[in-house]
Amino acid sequence: MTALLKLSGVSSFYGAIQALKSVDLEVHEGEIVTLIGANGAGKSTLMMTVCGNPRARAGSIRYDGQEIAALPTFEIMRRRIAQSPEGRRVFARMTVFENLQMGAEVAGNPDTRTTMDEVFALFPRLSERSAQRAGTLSGGEQQMVAIGRALMSRPRLLLLDEPSLGLAPLMVRQIFAAIRDLNRRTGLTVLLVEQNAFQALRLAHRGYVLVNGAITMAGTGAELLARPEIRAAYLEGG
Ligand SMILES: Nc1ncnc2c1ncn2[C@@H]1O[C@H](COP(=O)(O)OP(=O)(O)OP(=O)(O)O)[C@@H](O)[C@H]1O
Ligand SMILES: [Mg+2]
Repeated sequence: MTALLKLSGVSSFYGAIQALKSVDLEVHEGEIVTLIGANGAGKSTLMMTVCGNPRARAGSIRYDGQEIAALPTFEIMRRRIAQSPEGRRVFARMTVFENLQMGAEVAGNPDTRTTMDEVFALFPRLSERSAQRAGTLSGGEQQMVAIGRALMSRPRLLLLDEPSLGLAPLMVRQIFAAIRDLNRRTGLTVLLVEQNAFQALRLAHRGYVLVNGAITMAGTGAELLARPEIRAAYLEGG
């Protein structure tokens, strides 16, 4: 398998504080890879570094065989990398429809209609609510909008930061089922950041553990789930 995304020795900083410490990580074409770790471990930073903000101060980020670490963020997005950031950032005053449309526009996807039908098929709730202002949706529905908006750009690589945050178990299962379905049906490659380690490792082909900005463990989802250190640190009560 070829690596669609390959980070080698990536370090990033916020001012003088080092948030990522020489991170090596690969996501192969067609894979779901999950990154787990405690609060403040650097999971969101890793995802944002792939998008060029903050910029990697050392190391290499290769995407589809090309170095992207020095590219401006809009150039990175244009290469069909879509990010659904932490905290369901929807445009509250815009309708569901308009939010989705924005996702297509930023990436220059001309076939908005077809893509939107696909998003509606994945999240029928959004189709029922397409005229509703996004800010008045429930938390889970807003998360669907955030993921849907990322999908509207027809990404090859989808970066999902904590899609299950704050959601009820039923909604978490729906979101995870949607990710699995997209991956199986369309081969979409996904890098998933999750605190919900149990569900994420069951969903993912492979996973990485991030501790204080450094990768400490990697393996298949099943391997990581079976590790006693993982169970103790991330799955207790889960
Ligand atoms: N804009 C910023 N300026 C300064 N420090 C930051 C900034 N963003 C994050 N940090 C710091 O970098 C470290 C990693 O943060 P990050 O948000 O990547 O963690 P995380 O693993 O996503 O955590 P969580 O699970 O809570 O979302 C933390 O110590 C955080 O305080
Ligand atoms: Mg985070």
